[in-house]
Amino acid sequence: MNILLLGSGGREHALAWKMTQSPACTKLFIAPGNAGTAQHGTNVNIGVSDFAAIRDFCLDNEITMVVPGSEEPLVNGIYDYFKQDETLRHIPVIGPSTEGAKLEGSKAFAKEFMLRHNIPTAAYREFSADNFEEGVAYLRQHSQPIVLKADGLAAGKGVVITSDHEEAVKEFEEMIKSAKFGDAGRKVVIEQFLTGIECSVFVLTDGKNYQLLPVAKDYKRIGEGDTGLNTGGMGAVSPVPFANQPFMAQVEEQIIRPTVEGLAAENIIYQGFIFFGLISVDGAPHVIEYNCRMGDPETEVVMPRLQNDLLELFAAVPGQQLDKLQVYEDPRAATTVMLVSGGYPEAYEKGMEITGIPEPAKDQLVFHAGTKADGDKVLTNGGRVLAITSLASDLQVALAHSKQTAERISFGGKYYRRDIGYEFVS
Ligand code: AMP
Ligand code: GLY
Repeated sequence: MNILLLGSGGREHALAWKMTQSPACTKLFIAPGNAGTAQHGTNVNIGVSDFAAIRDFCLDNEITMVVPGSEEPLVNGIYDYFKQDETLRHIPVIGPSTEGAKLEGSKAFAKEFMLRHNIPTAAYREFSADNFEEGVAYLRQHSQPIVLKADGLAAGKGVVITSDHEEAVKEFEEMIKSAKFGDAGRKVVIEQFLTGIECSVFVLTDGKNYQLLPVAKDYKRIGEGDTGLNTGGMGAVSPVPFANQPFMAQVEEQIIRPTVEGLAAENIIYQGFIFFGLISVDGAPHVIEYNCRMGDPETEVVMPRLQNDLLELFAAVPGQQLDKLQVYEDPRAATTVMLVSGGYPEAYEKGMEITGIPEPAKDQLVFHAGTKADGDKVLTNGGRVLAITSLASDLQVALAHSKQTAERISFGGKYYRRDIGYEFVS
């Protein structure tokens, strides 16, 4: 297979690393990629949503499969773009149709879908300019904390949780009247606050069947003890001790199956990853959000624990043959610790030279996120820079190993959380 992978983060490096282990991988191209993906294939300078350039590239290079890493091209409609083009139609795109990608692209769509299919999630109301005053009155009497979600993609910033009624009203007004998160954000979901512990569940579906991948938990806040600003993700662990067999049986029965069957019943084409952002409320799983792609940094622990040939799984998707395969998980624990640029998630500098990156080993991998090659050097090129993944007999040993390597790698302004997985280690 000649594959085109879209994206440039740690998730894409992990996917590139995994796909090139398959004997079915003839050539791998990554658009636009980073210094890490370049170790596994050829980076090409095309944006993930430049569909016309992607089309020409696929035809010129006899691409036989497209794997979008991030949500952006999926929400922008890459699946439908390929299906509607005579010359591209035969190339599978691992992802949902434009309608299916709304599970991530529109909070209101996702909530309505869950309501229709009786999938456990926080109770909610939806407001727009049409019922703005009603929304303000609703907010003023709402119990605290209040959760507001702008409808569209908002680069991870569209969720506001506050215990201050006036702040909630101000945010609501900015979302609807000043389009703080763009036009899509003019619709706002206000939902019940759920208390519990979160985890990330991933499936690959062919639209009829699905295969469950290793479960992970990510750490979104910049500061230790889950404090400070939200980030793209500071680390992850897999497996997740509380996501045990009874919990996962409920997840499959109440959440995964109704989602896959609900999509099929509504004729929404979906042939790719579904990421269920879950919260366990006293052991009962609820959906916090859907994403239409793998998580980052979760992919950096999920792929190392997946023992299957990933391309064999992907190849079974277009013909709806996933039920013929079985997923095998490495029994070892995996952890990843993200090294970030000083100042992230606010302003930070780029172009710092990185030294001390170890060679990949059986039990340790360094995935590049925001990096760029400059001759023989590797420079920082983003907020999240490197994900240090370790595999070991348990989370504690793996975390110690990730942290040891985090210490040895150097670049100006380096920061990382030392407490990834803190709930699960003594
Ligand atoms: P989202 O962008 O939907 O993933 O939301 C970002 C984060 O906000 C989630 O990972 C949760 O930690 C938190 N969150 C979102 N919705 C709720 C809710 N209803 N109750 C409690 N926390 C929530
Ligand atoms: N780690 C969460 C995400 O990828 O959205």
